[in-house]
Formats: sequence, structure tokens, C-alpha cells
Amino acid sequence: MQLDDDARRLLDGAGGEAARKSMEILVALGTIYEAERLIPVRSAQISGVSYANLGDAGLELLEAWARDGRVACPSTLNPAGMDLVAWRAMGIPEEFAERQLRIVRAYERMGVVPSCTCTPYFAGNRPAAGEHVAWSESSAVTFANSVLGARTNREGGPSALAAALCGRTPDYGLHRDGPRAPQFLVRVEAPLPSAAHWGALGAALGRLVPGRVPLLELSAGAAGDAGAPPEEHLMALSAALPTFGGTSIFHVAGVTPEAGRHPRPADGVAIGRRDVAEAFAALDDGVEPDLVFVGCPHASLATLRRVAGLLGGRPVRRTLWVATSRAVRERAVGEGLVGAIEASGGLVVADTCFVVAPLAGRFRAAVTDSAKGCFYARGPNAMKVRLASLEECVEAAVGGSRES
Ligand code: F3S
Repeated sequence: MQLDDDARRLLDGAGGEAARKSMEILVALGTIYEAERLIPVRSAQISGVSYANLGDAGLELLEAWARDGRVACPSTLNPAGMDLVAWRAMGIPEEFAERQLRIVRAYERMGVVPSCTCTPYFAGNRPAAGEHVAWSESSAVTFANSVLGARTNREGGPSALAAALCGRTPDYGLHRDGPRAPQFLVRVEAPLPSAAHWGALGAALGRLVPGRVPLLELSAGAAGDAGAPPEEHLMALSAALPTFGGTSIFHVAGVTPEAGRHPRPADGVAIGRRDVAEAFAALDDGVEPDLVFVGCPHASLATLRRVAGLLGGRPVRRTLWVATSRAVRERAVGEGLVGAIEASGGLVVADTCFVVAPLAGRFRAAVTDSAKGCFYARGPNAMKVRLASLEECVEAAVGGSRES
């Protein structure tokens, strides 16, 4: 891989120890993937924030890097293991909170914005089409590539931080045209009225065409009354597709920016009502929930408006948590939405997600409108799950049974 003088200086330690180690990571990655050069990135989105995942070893490493590491491009953070302000309301132990706050402070010393969200595109980090970025967090990566038309590989936490500190990334994979081209045509014939349906579609795609880049062609029923899915539905697909299929880009004909730019694949498959119903069934453990969670990926302002409207002031009888970014939460406070949801007994948490928060053993079963959320709630937090529309989630929170 060719390195310019700047990159060589960083490799020689002229930019400090953290930048030297970062450049070593980037060179190793570029060598493995046979990149010819490094390219500048406009932003980084860094995962590896929760103390539940990092532990003391990760905390110490970040504090060491923060001694001389400073970001070279605008950089934002993935969710932490708790709401950085209202962690006591989440029942987070004091010792966990103290270490979590040290992690976030270490990132801040490096110049990373403590956005703590998987939807940085709602929190001031929204790349334009064609821009190269270095993002980790699979749902954000897939949204950036597919919906925004930006270019990023699915970075891990260390490689995203290395890119942030050096302002560049190796030029391979989804930074290049070829790997972005659709490999399979998918005719979507099922109605997809909710984010949960788009998540179920992602799960079905993962089963039918794993690891392949799909070009979706929507029937009139699938496209909905507006003729194109709202951003929240594309967020749900962006979260589910990498989770169930390992793919970090998709195209939707007539909707996403690169859909018409590549040749239409010859091979194809149709996805109908039965495929989507099967995906819902596979994400239903048939257990009454004691937790309702919304906001995976972090809820948009529009979703918070819908939750407040669907609650309509009714009290919740089951734990209802809605996760969002602090940036969106502040806007929602201004609109009276957080007050309305919390007056009903729900909690609007910022900075965290239910997968990286230490919830194991606290809840038995969750209902959520996120297929990705179902997948991970079953894993680290060992919960039973049920995928349901936002309307059904809110009804479950106010006490309606599965049959109501
Ligand atoms: Fe975001 Fe956590 Fe879901 S990072 S996409 S809320 S699993």
C-alpha cells in the first residue's frame, strides 16, 4: 500500500503514540484487504463505548490513548451502557456508572463528540452522497451506504477510532464501486406498513440471500400510500439486514440514491406475505412481555411523536422504554413529547441501547418493533422476544394482551 509523507510521519510517531498505533492498524487492514492507498474520511462513528463490553481492560486502553490521541475528523460515538444523565432511573449500579463515565470522558479528551447514538445522522453527523466515512455500528453503516449514498466499510471499534485519529481509511470494499453493485433482484410483493415489517423483510432477506447485495423492487402495496417508505422504515431494514444477512448495503429502486446506477441483476427472487409472516413468527417466543422497548435504532423525532400520540395520556402498566439520541431527546423535550410519554409512566432514555446496557436478569420477555432488537435481546440479555408494530408495542405497554 502506498503511503504519503503525512502517513509515514504518523507511522514514525511524529503525531504521538495513539496516532502511531492507529496508523499501524490502518496499514495492517489495508495490507490484508489489498488496498492501494489510504483515502481521507469526512467523519468517523466509533463503537466500543459500553463498559459492559469494554471492561476494565478497554477503559485503561482508551485512557492511555487519550493522553496524546486527538481526532483528525469530526467523530461521534455509538451508544453507551447507560443514559449518561438518568442512569439511576435505569437502575444502573454506581460502580458501572463511574467506569462508563470515565470511558466517555476519555473519548471526549480525544475530541470525539459524546453523541452516544447509533443514529448519528440525526445528531449532526449526516454524510452526503459520495462522501467517504469510517463508521462502525452495522445499522448506521448500512443506512449511510444505502439511504445516504455515503461510502463506508463496516468498521470495528478500533479501526473506526484509528480512522478518526488519522483522518483516513484504507481504500477497499464499499469505498469502491464494484462491491456496491446489486447482486440479486428482490421483488417485494408483501405489504410493509410498519418498521417492524421492514425489519422482518431484512430477516427474510438474510435467510434467502445471505451476504448478497439486494436490489429491491417494491410492488405498489409494498411501497405504501406515499409511494416510498419513510426514513424510519429504511432504518429498520438497515438494522435487520446486517444482523440477519451480513450485508452492509442495499438498494431500493426509485428510492435510494444508487439504485439506478448499476446494471439490474439477472437473478432474482420474490418475497411475499408468507415470507414476511414467517420472519415475524420466527421472532415470536409466545411469551407475555414485561418490557416494551422502542428505539432500535435510536428513535427519530417522528417516532417519538407517534409514541406520544399512540399513548394519548393513558398510563402504562408494563415497563416502557424508548431509546433515542440526546440530540433528538432535547428536541422532543421542547415539543412536550418526553413530558407526555413520561407522564404516562414511560421512560425516554438517551445515550444507550438495551443491548449494551447491563439488563441481564432484569426482564424476562420484551416486545419491540425492532427485528435487530429481538435478535440481540435473545443473546446477551437472554430474553424471550416478540416483534410487533409500534401500535402493538404501545398497546402492550398500556396493558393489552397479545389477543387484544
Ligand atoms: Fe442501536 Fe443498540 Fe439497536 S446500537 S441499532 S439501539 S442494538
